[in-house]
Amino acid sequence: MSAPPEVPAIVSRAFDVSLRAGYASFCRNETGRLLATLAATRGGTMAEFGTGCGVGTAWLRSGVRPGTTILSAELDADLATAAQEIFVDDPQVEVLAADWSTLRNKGPYSLLFLDPSVPQDASVEAVADLVEPGGMVVLDDFAPCEIWPPITNGRVDTLREGWLSDERFTAVEVMVASDATVLVATRR
Ligand SMILES: C[S@@+](CC[C@H](N)C(=O)[O-])C[C@H]1O[C@@H](n2cnc3c(N)ncnc32)[C@H](O)[C@@H]1O
Repeated sequence: MSAPPEVPAIVSRAFDVSLRAGYASFCRNETGRLLATLAATRGGTMAEFGTGCGVGTAWLRSGVRPGTTILSAELDADLATAAQEIFVDDPQVEVLAADWSTLRNKGPYSLLFLDPSVPQDASVEAVADLVEPGGMVVLDDFAPCEIWPPITNGRVDTLREGWLSDERFTAVEVMVASDATVLVATRR
């Protein structure tokens, strides 16, 4: 194991809330540690599209610098309420019960964490202007793929191909576990 097994207290709290809500769709700990590490390099405002029960938000929060803020939007009102509970006394985190597009006009962001299934269009074209120059986009929930162009479910994965080859970004596919990959793209 390359990292301590304990998770930060705020993440532990988010797990408790998820458990009580019977919700189990959240980023892996390996991804969470990457999010925390990247968050620690950021200033300004970070955003998350699709809060779930706040586990990813909590990982971001665990790395955040003083003065940096996190905005996270969750469409499901019950999940948003559960996640809001975690950060109720935290001036650096705001969870909105809203469609992700509510955050469109609150950027540009220094880091944007999204599950590609959340916006209807998670392409570079749709997302690029939401991040500031030098800002990072972290796309969760890919499966490792060692060929080019990348193939998912027997088809060319044009979303992944786009993020890894667009000239507006410098991007890398990070294999966080043997069965899980995250894309990290930094806006030039
Ligand atoms: C995979 S979960 C997110 C997990 C979270 N990012 C984490 O790592 O803990 C995806 C979430 O996106 C939410 N969602 C789906 N469509 C959405 C939309 N249009 N706007 C905001 N949230 C949305 C779903 O309700 C679900 O809770």
